[in-house]
Amino acid sequence: MDAGISSHLGAFYQDVAAFQSLVDGLEHETGAPPRAQAAMLGHGLQTLMLSAGELESHLAPSAPELLRDTQHTFRRLTSAFFCKSPNIERALTKPRGYAGDHALLDMYYTDSRVSSGVGRALDEVLYGTPAVRAVVNRKEYVKRWLAARVSRRSCAKVIDLACGPCRVERDLFDAGRVADAQLTVVDQDPEALAYARRVLGPYADLVNFVQANAIQMARAKAVPAALAGASLTVSLGLFDYLPRAIAVNLLRALRAGSAPGGELLVGNFARGNPTRTFMEWAADWVLIHRTDEEFLQLFLDAGFAPEDLRCEREAEGGLVLMVTARVT
Ligand SMILES: C[S@@+](CC[C@H](N)C(=O)[O-])C[C@H]1O[C@@H](n2cnc3c(N)ncnc32)[C@H](O)[C@@H]1O
Repeated sequence: MDAGISSHLGAFYQDVAAFQSLVDGLEHETGAPPRAQAAMLGHGLQTLMLSAGELESHLAPSAPELLRDTQHTFRRLTSAFFCKSPNIERALTKPRGYAGDHALLDMYYTDSRVSSGVGRALDEVLYGTPAVRAVVNRKEYVKRWLAARVSRRSCAKVIDLACGPCRVERDLFDAGRVADAQLTVVDQDPEALAYARRVLGPYADLVNFVQANAIQMARAKAVPAALAGASLTVSLGLFDYLPRAIAVNLLRALRAGSAPGGELLVGNFARGNPTRTFMEWAADWVLIHRTDEEFLQLFLDAGFAPEDLRCEREAEGGLVLMVTARVT
């Protein structure tokens, strides 16, 4: 092994050992106020992730396999601690096959944190990260986007593709902002749809649930009949997992399936997400981050006209690109 690489690896594992000592100290220091514990942990994690990011920048170009192996070893060494947060445990164990499933997102939406101990300190740090804040802000953005439009359109047919827990819809119903829209929520995962039904509670009968796979729509370049004629389509937390060709074909299918004058709102995490290193190293949660140009290009390649596209962020200085695309 190249001497430069071994010295970077050595420095990294020293930082891992220092982090583990910090965690041991916090686990035994039960009297420290939770805020103080979270501050110490946050600082330790920041130092560790800087070290991981630096190692990554050395290994990624020339030794990608060593990078993957090092990330596995890192997770083996640290997962017992990180799994004290049920949120990170779910991302790591992937009970639905991938990180970022409906139940994990709903922990963020409902601010579900461990109640005490070092797990509490870990959740305090986690829920304050830019990525988690962006996920919650993104939900608020989509609610404003939908509420403004359903009030202007009569009987809008609204599709939520990859709907997950349906917190967007539940919040809109609670706020009386659904107007006379007909909502169709779509997910590939029957467990997500069953969960969404429970979240929607008394409103569930007002919603049409469809189990369908977006990748099949991309392959067919068409949406199922139940989704055809949509006036408004939203999709969050899906495109960040789709490689370019599938994403373009899915946009083509959604465009073809929309009513004339319809609109799409699609989100994608932007390049430069400061929580990326933590997500990938600690939680094995890998997203496809895109620049504004890369994301907009998907829409152009799918046949949208440049003048029909608008790209914003979920919040000022935010991390999620939110593209509104008009079907003309
Ligand atoms: C990150 S969650 C986002 C949920 C919701 N859109 C939100 O932002 O709260 C991702 C959801 O996408 C669904 N999903 C993943 N791949 C899918 C696919 N190929 N077709 C349909 N749904 C999919 C998952 O089952 C999960 O519920």
